[in-house]
Amino acid sequence: MRVAVGVTGASGAIVAERLVAELLNHVERVHLMFTEASVKVVAQELQGPASTEGFSLKQTIEGGIAEDLRGKLRVYGVQDLFAPIASGSSVPDAMVIVPCSMGTLSRVSHGFSSNLLERSADVVLKEKRNLVICPRESPLSSIHLENMLRLANQGVTIAPLMPAFYTHPASIDDMIKQFVGRILDLLQIENRLVKRWNHRLL
Ligand SMILES: Cc1cc2nc3c(=O)[nH]c(=O)nc-3n(C[C@H](O)[C@H](O)[C@H](O)COP(=O)(O)O)c2cc1C
Repeated sequence: MRVAVGVTGASGAIVAERLVAELLNHVERVHLMFTEASVKVVAQELQGPASTEGFSLKQTIEGGIAEDLRGKLRVYGVQDLFAPIASGSSVPDAMVIVPCSMGTLSRVSHGFSSNLLERSADVVLKEKRNLVICPRESPLSSIHLENMLRLANQGVTIAPLMPAFYTHPASIDDMIKQFVGRILDLLQIENRLVKRWNHRLL
């Protein structure tokens, strides 16, 4: 399975980092793109050492791909419209935009394709593959909601970064695991990150 991951300038870079780390253990290839705004948010939010073993979003942005990941991870400049994933002939099986800003959400919902990330989403949509968008904003305006509805009506899965409390998360790490596990569920990738609802959670 080949999965594209688009990281935008919404808050929640840590979810993208943890998702990529998991995908690298589960899929054949990860295509990674990040917007210019996301680089600033990553610098702001991921200040300490990487929270994951084996993959650091900050290091990847700053210094390129670690040697041991070269076979599996492809990182593209967001203006690189010559990248294979910009074309329908090389469409990935699925794409996740996480975290997704209201700006990117708006542009994808209108087919704007002003950079590689938006173009890739447009290609995934037109080729009818699995597109999962994880928006992060609060409160939401009617413009945001209408943009989400436009995409949902096209078969896009809108999976907001919205924590659940019935699983009794004891830490931010627990919440991140739940987000990442649910995204893997949406890609039909088996995982043990999600705390599943059953009577023992009551
Ligand atoms: C620290 C920080 C946090 C931000 N968080 C959000 C957010 O949660 N949601 C959002 O829509 N925009 C957020 N923004 C604003 C976006 O980064 C901005 O609208 C940007 O133009 C989005 O560009 P992009 O869609 O190309 O990534 C944030 C900006 C900063 C600096």
